[in-house]
Amino acid sequence: MTGVASAPHPTPLLGKVVVVTGAARGQGAAEAEALARAGAQVIATDIAAAPGCRHLDVTSESDWSQLAAELEESYGQVHGLVNNAGITWRARLGEVRPEDFARVHAVNVTGPLLGIQHLSPLMPPGASIVNVGSTAALTAHYPVAYTASKWALRGLSRTAATELGPRGIRVNSVHPGYIETEMTASAHPAFRMANIRETPLGRTGTVDEITPLVVFLLSDDSSFISGAEIPVDGGLTAHGGVKSVSDAPRTEAGG
Ligand code: NAI
Repeated sequence: MTGVASAPHPTPLLGKVVVVTGAARGQGAAEAEALARAGAQVIATDIAAAPGCRHLDVTSESDWSQLAAELEESYGQVHGLVNNAGITWRARLGEVRPEDFARVHAVNVTGPLLGIQHLSPLMPPGASIVNVGSTAALTAHYPVAYTASKWALRGLSRTAATELGPRGIRVNSVHPGYIETEMTASAHPAFRMANIRETPLGRTGTVDEITPLVVFLLSDDSSFISGAEIPVDGGLTAHGGVKSVSDAPRTEAGG
């Protein structure tokens, strides 16, 4: 063996300007902090007020164009975008109203579309976009408006990776499993326990288990990764729904 292994760069995002949506709390807030620790100039945005957070409603074209104009003026370029803002709506198939279906789609899909449309013109080769999907995007999760929106976001991500690739811009998706945030705090306790049962690692995840992947995907360390979809879910989606089937003989045997 030759050479000496070098330590990972502590600030892989030094000099990069990165926009995070939905950064007032939860995963977005943790991502904004981690990206700043990695050296990025972070523009944290949200509709909710929070210290250090700039107002941006992801569904508003004028909010996005104003942000793009300001960033062009201040920095000239944008190197990263984390489309993290998202909402859920827990109505089932038979109950969901078209207006709620459309509202969820507007935030979870049109929001990322507008972000990409307005900021990608400012992106140089090497820039990176991360879309925050969900394991709902890989399964038949019951809140149909949310599930359909996250599947649509997968389609948007892949088209964007294809369209922007020739300009050297990468687009990837992360698919969190059950992460403890205010979004999941409002879920039924039985839903949480069922998720834990279906998760091979046997627990829920934390926001700090999402952020290292987001930092990696925004850094040049992932320079040949584009169009990828990476679950961060403790193994939830890997078994394709057969965990209880696999566990059954063991349970029957009492072991
Ligand atoms: P959260 O509800 O704690 O935070 C979401 C943030 O988005 C809030 O600060 C909210 O104000 C903001 N937001 C909502 N509508 C917005 C809009 N129109 N414009 C700008 N910001 C807006 O949720 P959490 O858990 O941090 O979720 C972050 C992302 O991760 C979402 O896209 C969510 O769908 C996704 N996700 C969450 C999972 C979880 O278990 N918590 C699992 C899988 C995916």
